[in-house]
Amino acid sequence: MTLALSRWHAFNAWAPWTDRRGRLHPLRVGVLAALSLPPAWLALRWANDALGARPLQTAIHSTGYWAAWVFLASLLVSPAKALLGMPNLVVVRRMIGVGALCYAVLHLLLYITDQNWRLGVVATEILVRFYLTIGFVTLLGLGVLGVTSSDGWVKRLGRNWKRLHKLAYGLAAVALLHFFLQSKADVSQATVAAGVYAWAMIWRVLPAGRDRGPAALVGLAVAAGAMALVFEYAWYRFGTRIDPLRVLRGEFDLSFGLRPAGLVLALGLLAAGLVELRALAQTRFGAGLGYTVLAYLLGALAGDAAGLAMGWTLDDVAPEGQPGPVLPGPVLPGPVLPGPVLPGPVLPGPVLPGPVLDVAWFALFALLGLARYRLRTAWQRHIVDALWAGTALWPVLAMDAEGRPLGPASAAVLLTGALLLTRRLWPVSRHAAMLVVPLAALAAYQAIALL
Ligand code: HEM
Repeated sequence: MTLALSRWHAFNAWAPWTDRRGRLHPLRVGVLAALSLPPAWLALRWANDALGARPLQTAIHSTGYWAAWVFLASLLVSPAKALLGMPNLVVVRRMIGVGALCYAVLHLLLYITDQNWRLGVVATEILVRFYLTIGFVTLLGLGVLGVTSSDGWVKRLGRNWKRLHKLAYGLAAVALLHFFLQSKADVSQATVAAGVYAWAMIWRVLPAGRDRGPAALVGLAVAAGAMALVFEYAWYRFGTRIDPLRVLRGEFDLSFGLRPAGLVLALGLLAAGLVELRALAQTRFGAGLGYTVLAYLLGALAGDAAGLAMGWTLDDVAPEGQPGPVLPGPVLPGPVLPGPVLPGPVLPGPVLPGPVLDVAWFALFALLGLARYRLRTAWQRHIVDALWAGTALWPVLAMDAEGRPLGPASAAVLLTGALLLTRRLWPVSRHAAMLVVPLAALAAYQAIALL
């Protein structure tokens, strides 16, 4: 029994979701869950034959895409840590880096499977084809960084550890080149990734102390957007026969959402806004209820912002060819999506007018802000934060055509979270607690209606 217990403790101290003392670490749990979501989603779609005619190809693309983005995310930890004043973020950097390595290994294994495990052919292809050679170089580099990321290696390498790990900057550039080469004619995603990379690298060369003010961050956003424009132009000019000027003109046409460079600019401005919001939190206003509710209310607009940025509309998520409006008025609240009517008999039962859902949606966010303000222990606040982030994200996920099955899942998560929150909130404010479940139920109704 004691042996089993001490083994359990040893396992807990080693597990990625705990801190060094073996206690559950909410940030690590959240990041680990986020890192596991894409492969879980991929596996689920594969099991349900939902990956199209060539599932292996889709899986190779998907794992490559996530390897690149998770790698970039690891480069964003340092700026986020400094800009948001959250030194604690460093505890997930290693996990994110190792996550990128795992994605890249999975990506290679899928490629080898696609080649029927003829290892000789795979080796020759990697040697002969430039785009595969650089993919392999990145993978090797990620492997070296992954192996030397343990505490033992950090100690053993001393000062050289930092030098070695700066290799990540160059490797990310090589990974991005592989991304561009594999994307062929449409390099939109690769351009966004390259713009984000430019943002992270330009931030690193800004003089210390000058990298935090609003003007510097707005300048950084503009510079990263401009770099994305340069990458895009260069790709079409030198890599394809497509007229690069036509593509650049497209950047200024917003009818299909923001184009890559515009998106990079918007992301940069969003980062600047977040940093300012965080700075405001340190002031007297930041300590008040108004600030928390305001900050939480911004989450209610996440769906609209993503819709604007990506050019997604609710038509994308509505089933096609079914006549007759079921939910009149806008389903997503806010000024950005002007309220397309969902076609088809989507939901049986009562028809709720759009404005009721809008009010419920905003009220839910305001209530979460209120709960965040009233609750005192870190754990209670983590629950509210997680619920807030999940609620803000689901319209974004549900808007993406791929995210459709997430509707009921998000509804279930929303309701479970609401029940948990109600229990936690009860001793502090019964009135607020009593409102959480019905409001979350309305939002869940909306989640299912998006299907
Ligand atoms: C030995 C190593 C690697 C091999 C053999 C390899 C191979 C491939 C192949 C075959 C494709 C799909 C090409 C196509 O069918 O159009 C691809 C796409 C891709 N790979 Fe790799 N790759 C490797 C390493 C990496 C690494 C280390 C990363 C990132 C860190 C990466 C990121 C990507 C990305 C972003 C794509 C494009 C995904 C998309 O289309 O959205 N790859 N790779």
